[in-house]
Parts: sequence; C-alpha cells; structure tokens
Amino acid sequence: MGPDDTLTNIQACVFDAYGTLFDFNAAVAARRDRIGDKADRLSELWRLRQLQYTWLRSLMRQHADFWQITGEALDYALAALEIDDPKLRDDLMDLYRRLDAFEEVPEVLAKLKSAGVKTAILSNGAPAMLADAVHSAGLQDSIDQVLSVEEVGIYKPDPRVYQLAVDRLGVPPSAISFQSSNAWDAAGAAAYGLAVVWINRYAQPAEHLPGEPRIELTSLRDLPARLGL
Ligand code: LAC
Repeated sequence: MGPDDTLTNIQACVFDAYGTLFDFNAAVAARRDRIGDKADRLSELWRLRQLQYTWLRSLMRQHADFWQITGEALDYALAALEIDDPKLRDDLMDLYRRLDAFEEVPEVLAKLKSAGVKTAILSNGAPAMLADAVHSAGLQDSIDQVLSVEEVGIYKPDPRVYQLAVDRLGVPPSAISFQSSNAWDAAGAAAYGLAVVWINRYAQPAEHLPGEPRIELTSLRDLPARLGL
C-alpha cells in the first residue's frame, strides 16, 4: 500500500455506505445545540455500539436488521450518557434516514459513471434505509445497484457479504474496487479477495487483521485517478 499505487482493469466500484458515502456524525451534529457537550461522545458511542451489535448478533445467530440495531444502539448510548429525551431519540433516528453525503461524493460517482464503471453500494443497511439515504443525497442516478446484507442475513465482515457483490455485479473479485472508511471492513473485503481502497477519513492507524488494502486515501476525491480514469 503506497501513495503512488493505482488499480488497473477495475470494472466495478463498490462502496460501503455509512462513514464512506454518508456521514453518520451528521445526525448528532444537527442536534448539537440540544445535546450540548455530550454530543461527540454520543455520536461515537452510538456508532461503536451499532457495529458491536452487528458482530455480536452474528456470533449469537440472532440477526436483526440494521434499522433495529441502529435504534437499540442509540438507546444504549443515550442511557449510558444519562440523556433522557424520547423526542431527541426520534429526531436522531429520523436524521439517520437522511444523512449528508460527504462533499466529494456526487462528483466522484458521476465521474465513475461517465467512465463506464459500474457503481454499487454494499452495506449493512436495511434496504429501506439505504433507499432513503441514496434519495435524500440525490445519488439515485449515479449508483447502479444498492446491495444490502439483508439478502444474505449476516453482517460484514462475513465473506458471504462480499461474495454478494461478485454475484450481483457479475464481475470477478479482482476487478471490483471496494471503498470503505471502516478499516475492519476494508480488511474483511481484502481478505475475501476484492481490490480494496481504504478511505481513511479519520486518520486512524491500520488494523491488525488479515486482509491488506491495496490503496489508502483520505477521501474519495482521488479515486478516479487511482483507477486510471
Ligand atoms: C455499512 C457500515 C459498515 O454501511 O458502515 O455497511
């Protein structure tokens, strides 16, 4: 993984949703005035529990969709921070349905589309959540397929999730570039065999997990150039 690496012969670009295309901190940020100085901790704990619940439920073989898990994680985070505000809870869930896309996203997707590359989302999100997110960000014309783990009934980083992209797109793993800001998701996809671009938006250290991303970027802006487009 180095700054000058490019990926060649990529036929499809597959994107993680939350944290990569859509800013999950935008929900809490929109209610920062109301939440006060617990806002950053709330956003961080909500996200952490949301992910942990996906992994725990997968191990427990007690799948529930990501909308339910997102609500349960928020309930935990609010309780842990001693915020008792049911209206705020409903507001945050509503805001999660229409998160902002990161600023470079529309232009990058449009560029990929005009270069003839297939584009898709591959996410833990439930189909209705993803449809709302795509529409509210105005990305419906630049995403060819929206793939949800609900089709396989298990969460990332189970290899069956990444296999879903191969099956649905009809493109071999080595010809799919997978973009995720989540280092553990990037590792999972790389261990499966996709060509991974880690979008390290939050300047995190590398995970010590199997699976090596091929390229590391700080946003999606340079992705087309790194694909030789
Ligand atoms: C997703 C989570 C991992 O969109 O962000 O799949």
